[in-house]
Amino acid sequence: MRILGLETSCDETSAAVVEDGCRVKSCVIASSQKDFERKGGVIPEDAARKQLEVILPVIRKALDDAKCTEESIDAIAVTFGPGLLGSLLVGTTTARTLASVWKKPLIPVHHTLGHLSSTWLFSPNQSLNPNPNPSPVFPILTLSVSGGHSDLWVRSSHISGTLIGSTRDDAAGEAFDKGAVMLGLPYPGGPALAKLAEEGDEKTYSFPNPLEKEHTLDFSFSGLKTSLKYLLRDLEKQESIQPLRASIAASFQFAICRHLCSTLEKAINSHPDIKEVHIVGGVSANERLRMMTRALGEKHGIIVRWPSSLRTCTDNGAMIASAGYFLVQEKPEMLGAEFETSATANLEKLLDHSPENTARKATSQKSQNARKQVKIS
Ligand code: KG4
Ligand code: ZN
Repeated sequence: MRILGLETSCDETSAAVVEDGCRVKSCVIASSQKDFERKGGVIPEDAARKQLEVILPVIRKALDDAKCTEESIDAIAVTFGPGLLGSLLVGTTTARTLASVWKKPLIPVHHTLGHLSSTWLFSPNQSLNPNPNPSPVFPILTLSVSGGHSDLWVRSSHISGTLIGSTRDDAAGEAFDKGAVMLGLPYPGGPALAKLAEEGDEKTYSFPNPLEKEHTLDFSFSGLKTSLKYLLRDLEKQESIQPLRASIAASFQFAICRHLCSTLEKAINSHPDIKEVHIVGGVSANERLRMMTRALGEKHGIIVRWPSSLRTCTDNGAMIASAGYFLVQEKPEMLGAEFETSATANLEKLLDHSPENTARKATSQKSQNARKQVKIS
């Protein structure tokens, strides 16, 4: 089955052709990141305007690169949410129009489900496949870390799973981005901070390890951000921080990765049935995180995978095509299903079927209410 996948949830416009959920025939990504580098973040209206201009040429290039035409596409998968509403609408409106003109069924895909499928993707001409086995095996413990979310899932299939932990405040990518802004680095901060960290010593400054002693699989990054703020303030009182920036970046990056890894390790210990650990989302491109999760996998004798190319870590159309394929394999009614574009679409609701999930949800609702009460008082 050959699917054209479209992804426009943030500042990227991407189209890809993927066969049987795995083989990437083409993947084109146009980004307006350069426009936002010095603004510290995306301006939603500007992003959508740019996407409107580039989406059709991007789709045309994806078809050309895959050496196919619209006739040989079996379906169109499109991100319906969550994300920036204007950007999402550019993608879903284009997809609806093309589906109608080309007479192809549409598959609505949740953005995060796309990331969860990204470890299945490979490019036929990719000489180096870092994954030890050809195809992942369930149950899988997946750490999904991007600019919008930080979640831990135990998945028993592509579309069934339990959310066992998530962030209580900022997402991991957001922590990188905000830290980068404090260090005067351009948007998006993650890659810039990681690059600066290469020249520094991560043992120079110590940061707390959030929630380390708590019996929880949740994440919290706002404390790290505050620690960085005070560290910079204190250092600036004494000296110029310019020569110290690389070591500050390295120490901050290490703190984020250590928090992710210690939570992952708690989850590995409490879920002995899992067969593999997957790291997905933009932050999975981080080399230090890869090194640390690889070591964790070796310690526990468990396969660790991340997307096989850097471009499939961050937002891309191939992961949407892949998720669309696996979605219709398990739920054929999703081929041509009605859907609404939604800036706040919730994946847990979509995947939630088992009694175990319902029980967890009730507990998580209780703890969320408790958290809200704490905040109010
Ligand atoms: O998945 P993604 O492309 O978009 C969202 O769904 O949010 O993730 C983007 C996030 C940004 O916060 C970016 O700074 C972060 O991923 N990121 C990285 C790296 N590359 C991207 N963070 C750390 N190290 C990287 N190499
Ligand atoms: Zn994403």
